[in-house]
Amino acid sequence: MPLVPMKQILDEAIRGGYGVGAYNVNNMEQIQGIMQAAAETNSPVIIQASRGALKYTKMLYLKYIMVAAAEDNPQIPISIHLDHGNNFDTCRQAIELGFTSVMIDGSLKEDSKTPTTFDENVEVTAKVAEYAHKFGVTVEGELGTLGGIEDGVGSGVSKLTDPSEAEKFVKLTGVDALALAIGTSHGAYKFKEAPVLALDIVTEVKKRLPDTPLVMHGSSSVPKELIDIINNYGGNMKHAMGVPMSSIQEAIKRGVKKINVDTDGRLAITGAIRRYFSEHPDVIDPRDYFGEARKAVYETVKSKMIDFGTAGHAQDYKPLALTDMISIYKK
Ligand code: G3H
Ligand code: 13P
Ligand code: ZN
Repeated sequence: MPLVPMKQILDEAIRGGYGVGAYNVNNMEQIQGIMQAAAETNSPVIIQASRGALKYTKMLYLKYIMVAAAEDNPQIPISIHLDHGNNFDTCRQAIELGFTSVMIDGSLKEDSKTPTTFDENVEVTAKVAEYAHKFGVTVEGELGTLGGIEDGVGSGVSKLTDPSEAEKFVKLTGVDALALAIGTSHGAYKFKEAPVLALDIVTEVKKRLPDTPLVMHGSSSVPKELIDIINNYGGNMKHAMGVPMSSIQEAIKRGVKKINVDTDGRLAITGAIRRYFSEHPDVIDPRDYFGEARKAVYETVKSKMIDFGTAGHAQDYKPLALTDMISIYKK
């Protein structure tokens, strides 16, 4: 199957009533672990790269591993997506590179820290949507800001999404998918006490925008098993806490269709390598511990594909090409 536009994957998820994980990647092992999970569970999948990932891999390397993943798994709909594009140029570069989807995070200024006004957000998001749609590329926008700061992304201040603004925002910008701020944040330390998400916002936005797939950032669950492995093998991650799977499943029922996961992949890899080093002090072949890391990503992602309800849906539809999307957008 060729790379498919993310809009198709998400529109089909609305039709089928399930969620699709968007997994952040930085290297081959992550991509292979995710693809093994998608192939075994027969799941459509979104693989996404942050600006940090593109910088780390010099863009081209990551792109070709993603393309290899699609070629190696012709039965799986796979979309490659830019996560948190900070300005028009970053999005344009990703489109030129062959990404089938981009996020323009106009909720923050180009520094990825300072919150923007509603009008500033509309302006940059509409510009990206108009440009991307000429190439059939899907666009995700964001309204509201997440709490927490992850590697320099985020203002540190949470501003929940206002549903009436969300309706206006989608109409003014033409975005295909909308990320909401409902109380999550990036990283492994999302909450200090029992997490409560503003799920009513999802319900209200879905009522106003029934055809727009909604996106939840900061969706790692930070499973205790993964934290325990890290801590038991020399790590120090006290008080880490994520979003319970039951809250994610409730958000999916209410209208969230794209679920962004980065941290849980990082935890799985870190725990696997820490354990391997500790149990095999004589190891020198990187394939041994990178292989363990890949297996840990596979296991973590496989269980999410089952829990999000993605499993079993890879063959529900015929893939659209970006050229098909160009005609759809023209209408
Ligand atoms: O949105 C935040 C993601 O977790 C990406 O993180 O910029 O460190 O790659 P990163
Ligand atoms: P986590 O840090 O919860 O994995 O969130 C990732 C994310 O939202 C990427 O855009
Ligand atoms: Zn995010």
